[in-house]
Amino acid sequence: MGLTALCPGTFDPVTNGHLDIIERTSRSFAAVVVGVLENPSKQPLFSVQERVELLREAVRGLDNVRVGSFHGLLVDHARAQGAHVIVKGLRAVSDYEYEIQMAQMNLRIGGIETLFMPTNPMWSFLSSSLVKEVARFGGDVEGLVPDHVRKALVERLGGGG
Ligand code: PNS
Repeated sequence: MGLTALCPGTFDPVTNGHLDIIERTSRSFAAVVVGVLENPSKQPLFSVQERVELLREAVRGLDNVRVGSFHGLLVDHARAQGAHVIVKGLRAVSDYEYEIQMAQMNLRIGGIETLFMPTNPMWSFLSSSLVKEVARFGGDVEGLVPDHVRKALVERLGGGG
C-alpha cells in the first residue's frame, strides 16, 4: 500500500497554483486527499460545498485525488483520512514563516510531517485573494484559474472577471 498525502487549504477559490501542487503531489503519492477548510470564523466568497465542487471539477482527470471538507484541527482530519503526510506549496520566503510554525505545531500535536513543495515559478504571484480582488473590479482572471472557476467568479461578483 502506498502513501497518502493531504493537501489542505481554504481554496476560496482554487487557483491554477493550487492545482499545480495537487497534480505534482498526485504523481509522487499513491493517493491525495484535498482538504477544504470550513472555517466558521471567516466569511469566504464561496461556501465550503461550492469550494469542494469547484475543486472536484478541477481534479476530475486525476484518478488518485479525492476532495472533501473538514472543520477543526487539520491533524484530526489527516488521521481520519489515513493521510501519512501533509503537503503544502511554498511560493516565497514570506509564506515560510507561517507555514513552518504550522508544520511544527502539527508535528507536535499530531505526529504528522509536512512536506513543502516549491510553487512552480509561473504561479508564484498567484493567490486566491488576489484573484478575487482582480475579479471583483472587473479584471480578467483567464489562465489563472480553471474556466469553470472563472465563470463562478463572474457569476458571484459580476463584471468581466
Ligand atoms: O489555504 P490556507 O488558508 O493557507 O490554508 C490554511 C490551513 C487550512 C492549512 C490552516 O488554516 C489549517 O490547517 N487550519 C485548520 C485548523 C488547525 O489545524 N489549526 C492548527 C494549525 S497549526
